[in-house]
Amino acid sequence: MSAIGRMACSISHDMRHSLTTIYANAEFLERHDRSASARAELLLEIQEAVLAMTERIDSLLEYGNSGRTKSLVRESVSLVVKKAVAAVKCHPDGRNVSITVGKFPPAEADIDATSLESAICNLLLNACQAATRSTHVPEVKVHLTEVDERIYITILDNGLGIPASVRKTLFDPFATAGKPNGTGLGLTLARRIAEEHGGSVCLDESNPERTVFTLSLTKNRLLPLGML
Ligand SMILES: Nc1ncnc2c1ncn2[C@@H]1O[C@H](COP(=O)(O)OP(=O)(O)OP(=O)(O)O)[C@@H](O)[C@H]1O
Ligand SMILES: [Mg+2]
Repeated sequence: MSAIGRMACSISHDMRHSLTTIYANAEFLERHDRSASARAELLLEIQEAVLAMTERIDSLLEYGNSGRTKSLVRESVSLVVKKAVAAVKCHPDGRNVSITVGKFPPAEADIDATSLESAICNLLLNACQAATRSTHVPEVKVHLTEVDERIYITILDNGLGIPASVRKTLFDPFATAGKPNGTGLGLTLARRIAEEHGGSVCLDESNPERTVFTLSLTKNRLLPLGML
């Protein structure tokens, strides 16, 4: 039950993001100054958000039935990062942020693509929210590098840095600061997902001009850790 509880918590957290996108798009659609192609795009984003939520709920029901979590499958991490960027660009907090993506290597690894996408979305949303609150034009940059058996996804933003009140407890559940609707679970969940992929999430740098988080993962989860 505790595993189901953890999974339900993670899925509810993701669903808040999808619901925020759906609500915002429904509001946009209410306005009559949108072109037919812009309306079609908004509808497509709603459909994609609903499909993503359905997939997440199905995985919870599947786990409830069988007791088995999704096994890790060899897939392109670059593709997962690109999907996360696309999802965050549809979210109201990501819409007005310039999110640039570096040139990615092919980068394949044994992953649960849905969970990994959710972890990256959490880091990207934090970056967009922080960048939007600064006085600069909000910018977020994403890089992906491969070093031997490891893959590193780095997310940089030009926000004001981590608030002092959460600096020591950043990855603890419910540590939140400066956000009206923050639950303080995004980083906890992102780190747990990275750990399930043989890696972690670390804060590399934080100052009033630049904040950098890195999510690392291991390509082959069957390799003993000593070999890495
Ligand atoms: N890139 C960032 N720049 C500045 N502060 C950040 C950044 N990322 C995280 N933080 C700080 O860390 C806190 C915890 O982040 P976390 O993602 O765990 O929770 P949250 O964003 O508040 O809520 P949610 O559960 O909706 O993600 C944030 O409230 C914010 O104050
Ligand atoms: Mg967050």
